Amino acid sequence: MDWSSEFPILNELVFMNHAGVAPISGRAASAMKIYANEAANFAYTQGHWYRRIREIKTAAAQLINARGPQEIAFIPNTSTGISSIANGITDWCEGDNVIISDVEYPANRYPWEDLKRHGVELIEVRQQADGHIDVDQVCNAITNSTRIVSLSHVQYASGFRINLKPISEMVHHAGGYLCVDGIQSVGLLPVDVQAMGIDFLSADGHKWMLGPEGFGILYINEDLIPMLHPHVVGWMNMVQAMDFGNYRFEFQPDARRFEPGSYNIPGMLALGASLDMILEVGIDEIWKRTDALTTQLCDGLPQAGYRVLSPREPNACSGIVVFEPPPPGSTPALAPGSVPQSDADLNVKRIVSELEKQNIHIVTRNGRLRASPHFYNQPEQIEQLLDALKGCGE
Ligand SMILES: Cc1ncc(COP(=O)(O)O)c(C=O)c1O
Repeated sequence: MDWSSEFPILNELVFMNHAGVAPISGRAASAMKIYANEAANFAYTQGHWYRRIREIKTAAAQLINARGPQEIAFIPNTSTGISSIANGITDWCEGDNVIISDVEYPANRYPWEDLKRHGVELIEVRQQADGHIDVDQVCNAITNSTRIVSLSHVQYASGFRINLKPISEMVHHAGGYLCVDGIQSVGLLPVDVQAMGIDFLSADGHKWMLGPEGFGILYINEDLIPMLHPHVVGWMNMVQAMDFGNYRFEFQPDARRFEPGSYNIPGMLALGASLDMILEVGIDEIWKRTDALTTQLCDGLPQAGYRVLSPREPNACSGIVVFEPPPPGSTPALAPGSVPQSDADLNVKRIVSELEKQNIHIVTRNGRLRASPHFYNQPEQIEQLLDALKGCGE
């Protein structure tokens, strides 16, 4: 089936930055327009927005194979979700540790680093020169003092996808938990929180889920909800939330305990519309199509004079393709925290602005080029990008 009519952006741009801020789907745009019209004409009196809450949480739960809507909280962004876990655990002790990688997006670093004030040690597993994060190295770093391993399922700067299952097994064995920054995979790749052993997962909706910025989901394994204390407290996280005069101080028993106040309703309705579409297309189909597009791109890049840096093995690739034009006389590896040569930096920026002139949108990250097509992009658009890149490299 052709889903391109759902994406008006196809008429305007060759857009390949879904790992940045994606376009919202046409359905999400319609949901927001309808909301604006209803809010202007009837305020909330028609009431049906609120009936969508449970349906949308159910759709989100289905997408990641959570047990149900009771395991999903709505959050304003990934950072808030991760911070809810970091601060939701209240019995941090001097000497506890948290394991991350040394190339996490800052949303999955600072909430853990902030725990240093409780004496918590932050252990960073180093990314390998080829962009992989070694699962054995992560597992070997886990000790009885490890409370949390927190990793991006897919790394934003390399596109590397990590195998989470052995890590969850190891950290559970040591008595800790696995937290996942899922923003670069949910909506694109099959994510199964139960099969992968994920305890907590946070993801804003504005990338692969094709929702607007500022509205996302936090998954919390139902069994662990009682042990977490909400770090932002308001009227809504209480069991008697709708009984305003009843000041019974008791948190919701399910993931709603992490929702302190009113929702961003237009954001929720838009994300809900996109999630419905994603479920309709099917996550396996979405991944199959995107995988074909990124493979086409990676096959064509060397002929266009570019070097692919993203791991491309079937179990390690994602929707992100990082590549670089060959700098004369050197072959830099994708090293952690490396500072690219400023002329290389200027070169990739020049290429991106050349592409912009042809209405092709990709970005630079850490001195490299990054393209991230989604399932609805067309093979012809990949050809267009490759042709344009050939022109830029000359
Ligand atoms: C891996 C990862 N985590 C988180 C974010 C964004 O965090 P937030 O949703 O808190 O803005 C990004 C954005 O690029 C990202 O790539």
